[in-house]
Amino acid sequence: MTASRSLPSRAYLVDVGPRDGLQNEKGRVPADVKVALIEMLADAGLPSIEATSFVSPKWVPQMGDAAEVMARVRRRPGVRYAALVPNMKGFEGALAARVDEVVVFAAASEAFSQRNINCSIAESIERFRPVVRAARDAGMRVRGAISTALGCPYQGEVKPEAVRDVAQRLHDIGVQHAGVADTIGTGTPTATKRAMEAALAVYPAGEVSGHFHDTYGMALANVYACLEVGVATFDASVAGLGGCPYAKGATGNVATEDVVYLLHGLGVGTGVDLAKLRAAGRFISRALGRATNSRVAKALDAREGLAEEAAA
Ligand code: HMG
Ligand code: MG
Repeated sequence: MTASRSLPSRAYLVDVGPRDGLQNEKGRVPADVKVALIEMLADAGLPSIEATSFVSPKWVPQMGDAAEVMARVRRRPGVRYAALVPNMKGFEGALAARVDEVVVFAAASEAFSQRNINCSIAESIERFRPVVRAARDAGMRVRGAISTALGCPYQGEVKPEAVRDVAQRLHDIGVQHAGVADTIGTGTPTATKRAMEAALAVYPAGEVSGHFHDTYGMALANVYACLEVGVATFDASVAGLGGCPYAKGATGNVATEDVVYLLHGLGVGTGVDLAKLRAAGRFISRALGRATNSRVAKALDAREGLAEEAAA
């Protein structure tokens, strides 16, 4: 099947499960499990994996093993391994760990910026400035995430102008990509298009992505809305893992399996092998002792009689 003419023919997926998915887990997830998950995702054909965060372990204890995880992952050529970095200390960790891409994370709402990274939006940009310079000098790629682009748990509504403003500030300091994030999953397709268009006023379509938490069940509709405005890069989380520790009640990212099923159904290529991706989802769900949040994985498991095995 060929893609509908109005949609991009190919999408680029970033699995953020090992980072966004696991950062909120209360129980300690062993580094072994994280390493195995990352390797399974690479094996499934994910071109990019957000593997960990070099953040303060006082703030996010689950990511305290970032250096160990990165040191142990067997790197697959052609796969981009990314890590979140909030400041120079984090950058030094990421550099030593030879990550391919650092992700600086700002917010479109002041209230969320304070809760998540303990500073204002303007201060966060100043903190990122030397990080971006050092990363670019070291030949690393730099992506920016714009949290609360479609709503804030503390402040409520967030206007597209605020998204555009943060995108511009990130662009001005040399960030190469703008990830537009619906942290609390309240966005609907029209609002999503407006937020994407705000980022597209600053970045080309190939350097804008959507990051949708599926709290309100809107994520797949929002992925489709992105395709309609030419945005074809998406973050997603295997088995729909996750949530942000500073966005209470926000559930995981849209499941990568569900995004792959949608895209392949539309004739949009991803390079991802859905069967291998489901295996990665089964592995991590079993390790965490819970059922997958992927609707597609549940449906296919049931059809193939794997449901009981997956829950075991
Ligand atoms: P702070 O407390 O203001 O910073 O936190 P500080 O500079 O005063 O440092 C406090 C302590 O942390 C010090 O240790 C530092 O050395 C240490 P002490 O002297 O007390 O022993 N420290 C670090 N340790 C390791 N790595 C580092 C680091 N930095 C400081 N990089 C800070 C400010 C930004 C560090 C903190 O707020 C933080 O780490 N926040 C991270 C929050 C986070 O990871 N949130 C989740 C990820 S964002 C997200 O999920 C959203 C996203 O998915 C998109 C979306 O959905 O919206 C991306
Ligand atoms: Mg997130």
